[in-house]
Amino acid sequence: TDRYAVFGNPIKHSKSPLIHTAFAQQTVQDLEYHAVLVPEDGFAEAVDNFLTDTGKGLNITIPFKEEAWQKAQNHSDRARLAGAVNTLYRNAEGELCGDNTDGLGLVTDITVNNGGEIRGKTVLILGAGGAVRGVLEPILVHQPARLVIANRTPAKAETLANLFSEYGAIEACGFDQLEGQQFDLVINGTAASLQGEVPPLPADLLADNAWCYDMMYSAETTAFNCWAAENGAAKVMDGLGMLVEQAAESFAIWRGVRPDTSEVIQELRHQLL
Ligand code: ATR
Repeated sequence: TDRYAVFGNPIKHSKSPLIHTAFAQQTVQDLEYHAVLVPEDGFAEAVDNFLTDTGKGLNITIPFKEEAWQKAQNHSDRARLAGAVNTLYRNAEGELCGDNTDGLGLVTDITVNNGGEIRGKTVLILGAGGAVRGVLEPILVHQPARLVIANRTPAKAETLANLFSEYGAIEACGFDQLEGQQFDLVINGTAASLQGEVPPLPADLLADNAWCYDMMYSAETTAFNCWAAENGAAKVMDGLGMLVEQAAESFAIWRGVRPDTSEVIQELRHQLL
């Protein structure tokens, strides 16, 4: 039986084993998938120990995505740009390959699962950490009219905008500079959600028919999505679909088949409530 795992720290609450086990059943693939708590200083060794004969692939989560990027010998373009790796496997030559499926997961959830449009829209992304860096190129591929990164520390948003400027129209600012501007799609990628906080946003930030997406998810509506609903969003989405979609893309890389995600998203949502 081929073995897969997600490496992280903490890892207890990971939904990945459930998601990949459901994908395997659906696509009739003989594999097992577990969550592994990896010590902070033991990542490289754990990867080497796992990816031998039957150990076929790994998902990588907090706090190891940058270290996984360092360790990979080959990077997909999207992983190179993300500066982080969430999917590891060995190619036929035995080289360690790193990919990043997070950004595609977000974009697929918005466009395919929810029928949203990015092309031609004004898009605002909140935050400028690793999570945001991972999704910029996949968003720019869809050619928004404008992509603005707003961050508490504007210099970090500026650095990201410079890094991605050759991939499309991308700007940076602080939250206070959002005054008077409107956006069709606002994506929250700040860690503020984790503390139940919302960045200080102008009340008239959302254009008519604007959509809002929180890359985080929880049983309760997230703080950002509460703000969105109260400030006129036509639709609010959370990161549960992104989680399942990034998993589906990793699964497709490893197994060459793409699972159907809708049932798994529904099942997870049901469990969460
Ligand atoms: P991640 O990998 O989740 O992106 P990170 O790299 O630590 O984590 O980035 C966290 C992001 O959330 C940053 O954009 C951070 O803003 P700063 O760059 O100014 O630190 C943002 N963030 C965290 N807590 C926040 C809060 N309470 N309000 C607004 N932004 C916050």
